[in-house]
Amino acid sequence: MIQHIATVAGLRAALAASGHDRDGRVALVPTMGALHEGHISLVNEARKHSGLVVVSIFVNPTQFAVGEDFDAYPRSLDADMKKLAGGADIVFAPSAREMYPGGHATTISVGGPAAGLETDFRPHFFAGVATVVAKLLIAAGPDVAVFGEKDYQQLLVVKRLVRDLALPVTIIGAPILREADGLALSSRNAYLSTGERRIAGRLNVILKDAVAQARASGDLRAVEAAATEALWQAGFSHVDYVAIRDAQTLEHIAALDRPARILAAVKIGKTRLIDNMAVA
Ligand code: PAF
Repeated sequence: MIQHIATVAGLRAALAASGHDRDGRVALVPTMGALHEGHISLVNEARKHSGLVVVSIFVNPTQFAVGEDFDAYPRSLDADMKKLAGGADIVFAPSAREMYPGGHATTISVGGPAAGLETDFRPHFFAGVATVVAKLLIAAGPDVAVFGEKDYQQLLVVKRLVRDLALPVTIIGAPILREADGLALSSRNAYLSTGERRIAGRLNVILKDAVAQARASGDLRAVEAAATEALWQAGFSHVDYVAIRDAQTLEHIAALDRPARILAAVKIGKTRLIDNMAVA
């Protein structure tokens, strides 16, 4: 039976009462709900590391800018709870007031891997993510926390946050889950019309081609430009970026002389999609 908890005090009390369960370890999977198989794979990964799994469900207002999809973001707590049955032990689903009480005035700002890419298009985003993730980690005090590689830059930002603040938690990145045509699973896929969904399926194919071209030619700037053009041709309404970067720091690289990652963000109509994959 999953415990549904809405307050930080309640979460701490439940964790204390559990004695941290069978192996004394706690894993946290932070989510914004609207759970799909990708999230469930994170929960399954968490279970490998801990006898007690906490899933947080909180649509974090501070990572959305005015005009983004905060109000439209799908909220489905009852369905999410059903999907977590047998997977999670505790669902922590606080209110905005619980996470950001009146007068809340603290924000965590992360540099390093937060620079560029998403930040160029969503400058508010990583401060919101870093602040809420720090609060969730402090509230749950987990031994491990699992994040999807789908949000690759976010994963690196969280790792840097944890390292810089010396938080006693291990951050685990879990691989992207994909549909049959390779589209990365995302809660935002629910926004896509049938026609848009067809176009969305081209994103991963174009990135895979770019990976092959980068390995063959080594001309990373030409590959980024060709992939950008291919995305426009495929019918995406905007290409925010296609970039091949150092896989650990996200710094610019000129050659595939170290582990590298290709990352992309596109829009189809009002829906923004991101994806990434290993290059070298
Ligand atoms: O990836 C997400 O769902 C969110 O950015 C996170 C990590 C739960 C923080 O709100």
